[in-house]
Amino acid sequence: MMNPMFCFLLTLTAVLAMTEGRGSTPVLDSDSKNVLSNESYSIIPLKSNGVSYDSGGLTVFNRGGTCPIYIGVKASEFNLGVTVRFSDWNSTDKYVPQLLNLNIKMNITTPIKCLRPKYWAAGAREEAWFLRAGIKPLKPKFQIKKSDVYMGGYYISYCPAGFNCTRVGTFVNEDGVRHLALNATPAHFAFVRGVIKTSSKTTMSIG
Ligand SMILES: *[C@@H]1O[C@H](CO)[C@@H](O)[C@H](O)[C@H]1NC(C)=O
Ligand SMILES: *[C@@H]1O[C@H](CO)[C@@H](O)[C@H](O)[C@H]1NC(C)=O
Ligand SMILES: *[C@@H]1O[C@H](CO)[C@@H](O)[C@H](O)[C@H]1NC(C)=O
Ligand SMILES: *[C@@H]1O[C@H](CO)[C@@H](O)[C@H](O)[C@H]1NC(C)=O
Repeated sequence: MMNPMFCFLLTLTAVLAMTEGRGSTPVLDSDSKNVLSNESYSIIPLKSNGVSYDSGGLTVFNRGGTCPIYIGVKASEFNLGVTVRFSDWNSTDKYVPQLLNLNIKMNITTPIKCLRPKYWAAGAREEAWFLRAGIKPLKPKFQIKKSDVYMGGYYISYCPAGFNCTRVGTFVNEDGVRHLALNATPAHFAFVRGVIKTSSKTTMSIG
């Protein structure tokens, strides 16, 4: 029979391993609820006051009618834009964990040319290192981490190797369109759950 103290230590080690496990901290939405894999969210950059929205939510567009499809944000903070779902992190958490690589899939319903442009990806460098929409990546490459500056704000990072991450920011191109880009001032994002209700809420501040 096993020594009870040894059993206790084994159990304790297992519990510690679980609680200290990677990705055990949930990402929270703008209502301070866990961000879940089965729900849809708008992703909206925060103003430098850390509270109100700096722009609308996500949009996708091309330039000159050609591929690729870029990811940007809507100009109006009243437009919550295309929603996303998060998937494919390497843990059993039901909520979206911080600091684990994951995929970000956009709910693009209108037919749009170019190869199934649903997932966030990083393309080649142009005027800036723009994020693009593409097919499902073989390996998830984005991570979410709580901002150390704003409550409720999160950084989204591109982490191709799981480390050496580059934070996502916005970059205004010569047409005045706000792209998501990697070599821009990092933005703080809020995750807003659910369906757009155009009839309610005239103020878009969160918290
Ligand atoms: C997602 O799952 C949670 C519990 O895990 C549940 O309460 C919620 O209704 C689900 N949402 C959808 C859209 O299915
Ligand atoms: C997933 O995590 C486990 C445990 O931390 C690790 O052993 C495994 O290599 C990881 N798999 C991938 C694909 O990163
Ligand atoms: C995707 O968007 C369409 C149209 O806006 C909406 O009807 C549908 O419920 C959305 N799906 C998800 C998974 O959010
Ligand atoms: C990660 O960053 C460090 C420090 O900037 C650098 O020395 C190293 O080469 C980088 N590794 C990879 C795989 O990019």
